[in-house]
Amino acid sequence: MQPFFTLEQIDETADAIRKRSAYRPRVAIVLGSGLNAMADSIQNAVVIPYQELPHWPISTAIGHAGRLVIGELEGQMVFAMQGRAHYYEGYSMSQVTLPVRVMQRLGIEMMIVTNAAGAVNPTFVPGDVMLIVDHINFIGMAGINPLIGPNLDELGPRFPDMSQAYDRALCDLARQAAAENGIHLHEGVYVGLCGPSFESPADLRFLRVAGADAVGMSTVAEVTVARHGGLRVLGLSGISNKANLDGSTVTTHEEVLEAGKIITPKVEKIIRGVLRRL
Ligand code: HPA
Repeated sequence: MQPFFTLEQIDETADAIRKRSAYRPRVAIVLGSGLNAMADSIQNAVVIPYQELPHWPISTAIGHAGRLVIGELEGQMVFAMQGRAHYYEGYSMSQVTLPVRVMQRLGIEMMIVTNAAGAVNPTFVPGDVMLIVDHINFIGMAGINPLIGPNLDELGPRFPDMSQAYDRALCDLARQAAAENGIHLHEGVYVGLCGPSFESPADLRFLRVAGADAVGMSTVAEVTVARHGGLRVLGLSGISNKANLDGSTVTTHEEVLEAGKIITPKVEKIIRGVLRRL
């Protein structure tokens, strides 16, 4: 496992992307499980498979295409990641978050992060979308924070603030975009766990008491690094399965991907609305 990347290694990846595309995107979009299809509507796209980039972690999870799509969406230059790497795949936290460092070095100002998540809030149903207003860094509390290791002062401070990880102005734009499209947008707290096993009913009851509304296996590390690097963040969770607080249902990856088909058009409309308003 790669423990920590140097600035030179991060810049090697950024340079490889610059060589492939003259675009200078301002906004990155990370497309999670079942949500990859959105990148297909990016225009004049330059597509770079992750394998062609030095150091870039390859997504092995089903539902992750594994390529960068750089092009135009709603008048903005965007840098879309079709798929991401997860800690449960065996990557180090530095590898999982390398793409965010590369975004920072490319001069990207904002990261829109999406994911498939399980409901913890019992009022949520599969197909719903939740605006992430805060997160619980559960893996970080267990000692696995992506900022552990030497701090690269060029990239950000040793002890970054996380009081407003999800940018309030961007949250407002998402609310407006959802309202404009008649989409009901929940708001809540995302808790990031390691996976790959889904939560037990007792895990979920515990997470509910702790204040979580949705649970997933990504996002928090990426957001932590993005904030360290000064990127503004917008987070959207697609709810793919019900809160199984009493153990009466079974959770499968297939239902996560299936729910993605309902969620994708909603998330796409919200993201397009946000991009138009930037
Ligand atoms: N738990 C964790 N991650 C998930 C879930 C879940 O229920 N659904 C989609 N991603």
